[in-house]
Amino acid sequence: MQKPEKPAAPPAAGRAARLVHIITFGCQMNEADSENIAASFRRRGFELTDELKKADAVVVNTCTVRQRAEDKAISQIGRLRVWKEKRPEGRVFVVGCAAQKLGGKYLKHRFPFVDEVVGAKAIVNFEEALESQFGPAPDTETAHKNLFRSPQTAYVTIMRGCSLKCSYCIVPAVRGPAAFIPVETILEDAAVKIKAGAREIVLLGQTVNSYRHGRTTFSGLLERALALPGLERLRFMSPHPIYFDDGFTALLASEKKLARHMHLPVQSGSDRILKLMRRGYTRAQYLALLARLRAAAPDLAVSTDFIVGYPGETEKDFEETLTLIKEGRFSLAYCFKYSPRTDKPEMAATLSEGEIEARLERLLAAVRINSRVILNERIGKIEEVLFETETYGRTSGNFALRVKAGGIPGKMAEVAVAGADKNTLNGKVIIL
Ligand code: 5AD
Ligand code: SF4
Repeated sequence: MQKPEKPAAPPAAGRAARLVHIITFGCQMNEADSENIAASFRRRGFELTDELKKADAVVVNTCTVRQRAEDKAISQIGRLRVWKEKRPEGRVFVVGCAAQKLGGKYLKHRFPFVDEVVGAKAIVNFEEALESQFGPAPDTETAHKNLFRSPQTAYVTIMRGCSLKCSYCIVPAVRGPAAFIPVETILEDAAVKIKAGAREIVLLGQTVNSYRHGRTTFSGLLERALALPGLERLRFMSPHPIYFDDGFTALLASEKKLARHMHLPVQSGSDRILKLMRRGYTRAQYLALLARLRAAAPDLAVSTDFIVGYPGETEKDFEETLTLIKEGRFSLAYCFKYSPRTDKPEMAATLSEGEIEARLERLLAAVRINSRVILNERIGKIEEVLFETETYGRTSGNFALRVKAGGIPGKMAEVAVAGADKNTLNGKVIIL
């Protein structure tokens, strides 16, 4: 980190606050990091702005999970060249996973107008980068503000990094091995966010259900979090299939505040590919887990991730992925084209771009049909909805839902589901 010759002056009395524009790519972990970054800026008297041209500082929080994510980050940074020319006193911060992968030296050489580079491994020390640009922070507290999802929903990071070794994945390299945040810190973070208005907390981690701190397991942490006053609903993401234990299923059965939704990435329906990916489970084991979870919570909605075109994926492997969509009864699936993240020859794509594209289209079509079926199954049911506006909210299963009127933002209500259109349920509030 380079020290500037003269720290920028704080805003003079009477002058409007300085503004920071934060651009976030990637996953919810990045969104949570961006919220912390925003809080650090706000402690220094900055306010957030959606408009780049009004900003005094810009943060690009980058992702590199697939090459396309990294390319997007790079072109975003490139576009800041003009901004900086017009505003030489403006500051540019590049942070996150692509920053970690590419390194400060490379980024500052390619983009000399970048002031600070903070990789994903050092993101908890973002404060130091700010201090080097603007001097020490005054000793003031700022109330938490949710920047993503909705005002009622707050992210709470419970672990950083990942200690698994899935063959295709760059996350362990850029975020480092799993490190768990102490229980008390997590509960305090959640309590602060509930006090600031959150009714729903989403616990975050790359393998969130591998959580363990001292004697506290993931289920133990969930139990403590569920007891927080003011909390209406608890979610977590993303769990890994190998870490669920009986303590968890028991909790899922008994705790209605624990959301009836899980995003449980499966990646492929072929045992051969799952093995090459080093996922640690077979198709049958994954399905058996779904059965156990659904025995505990019959209305559980499960969404997933698929990768198409993994090196060596045959038509037969791919068809096994296609059949898993229906068998897994997924409410939603994010489908990604395989993107090589290393130069290892055995990890190069074996299918042509056209072949991968064709499989992706087939996968997306199958997912679309299946999601519609799963959504329609909710018609006629009564759902608990946490409203974000008077007319819009999300069910415990994470389905979007609309009513004509009667929702109270931040409050849970029971809704009789009457129909579905596109990806959204609709119905009538029955109990407030
Ligand atoms: N190529 C394509 N998709 C990937 N994912 C992770 N790494 C890759 C890769 N190299 C997908 C996985 C994961 C999601 C966050 O991104 O499906 O669950
Ligand atoms: Fe992207 Fe993975 Fe980093 Fe999230 S953890 S920002 S998905 S590379």
